[in-house]
Amino acid sequence: MRVKTSLIVLFSLQCLLFVQLSSAEFPHDVLVSARLLDSHLQDWAFKAFSSPRTGLPYDGEVPTNLTGIKVSAIRLRSGSLRERGVQSYKEFEIPIGVIEEPYVERLVLVYHNLGNWSHKFYPLPGYSYLAPVLGLLAYDGTNLNASGLHELDIRASDEPILIKFPDLKHSPFGPLVKCVYFDLHGSVHIDIPLHGNLCATSQQGHFSIVVESNASSPAPSPSGEVQGGGKNTKSTLLRKVVLYVVGGIVLLAVFGVLVDRIRRALKRTEIRELENVAESGENLDMTTIGDYKVPLAFGTRTRPMINMITFLRLLS
Ligand SMILES: *[C@@H]1O[C@H](CO)[C@@H](O)[C@H](O)[C@H]1NC(C)=O
Ligand SMILES: *[C@@H]1O[C@H](CO)[C@@H](O)[C@H](O)[C@H]1NC(C)=O
Ligand SMILES: *[C@@H]1O[C@H](CO)[C@@H](O)[C@H](O)[C@H]1NC(C)=O
Ligand SMILES: *[C@@H]1O[C@H](CO)[C@@H](O)[C@H](O)[C@H]1NC(C)=O
Repeated sequence: MRVKTSLIVLFSLQCLLFVQLSSAEFPHDVLVSARLLDSHLQDWAFKAFSSPRTGLPYDGEVPTNLTGIKVSAIRLRSGSLRERGVQSYKEFEIPIGVIEEPYVERLVLVYHNLGNWSHKFYPLPGYSYLAPVLGLLAYDGTNLNASGLHELDIRASDEPILIKFPDLKHSPFGPLVKCVYFDLHGSVHIDIPLHGNLCATSQQGHFSIVVESNASSPAPSPSGEVQGGGKNTKSTLLRKVVLYVVGGIVLLAVFGVLVDRIRRALKRTEIRELENVAESGENLDMTTIGDYKVPLAFGTRTRPMINMITFLRLLS
């Protein structure tokens, strides 16, 4: 339980940090080929179902010219996903509380393991992969003959979806190891792992573990990554600005709540002290603020410090 709580705290922290860590855009042609692969993999994964049993994973077959890529699919009732999650589906651990948008009765989670094709479909200059790129995408499971389906939008609401990379190539890189998350729209997010080989997400997409390579090529940055014009750069910049603003607001709100808490706590102790003074036998004019009986002079809230001093004098 404790571990879970700390994971959640870490995850929330990470969400805050997300604002500061890098996010970049994929070049358009790379995105197109990756999305085309997603579409084919959906098709091949669905073909693995003949008369599928709900909640059991089925492995699909890929054409021989893509040997090395693995695909699998599991069909679930939407309600079961929301209420029970999936303890373990390959490297993914899907918690309670994952909901899809739009709502469907049954959905199919398609799993990808891009194996030695990872860097072909998800090139990431400045980083090397320590694990294969893994994908988890959700589709409407009503018609298993369907191809060219559009993904559903899924979101983990309470706890994050966890991805545990078991065959992590042992590396001496330690803190240089990063989680990478590719969303379906071509954005790349680099993030710190929860620990070692554990990454967290609230959304679907592709995930892996990378390490910054000491090659001369620069890390992906909005200016370095984007090929193909001002529009992309502008939207990246805009996204960054929005992220910073939202992050700032969240931080401000948290700070505000903290300050308010401290102020209330201080006030409560102050009032309690005054109450004690009053109860210790001095005859003072009393008034009530909320549940507290306080000396009238203090009730006006004008100059509490002076009042305090007066009371201390009265005490002695
Ligand atoms: C694999 O072969 C198919 C034709 O069978 C072709 O359309 C596709 O582009 C090939 N893919 C790769 C990655 O070579
Ligand atoms: C991955 O490995 C398979 C053999 O296991 C090979 O046929 C394929 O060409 C490799 N893919 C790449 C991109 O190197
Ligand atoms: C899917 O295709 C199979 C034959 O390939 C057919 O028997 C079945 O009725 C089809 N199902 C739907 C929902 O179209
Ligand atoms: C990169 O780092 C490795 C050790 O981690 C070192 O052996 C290698 O020479 C470095 N390469 C460059 C280009 O700096």
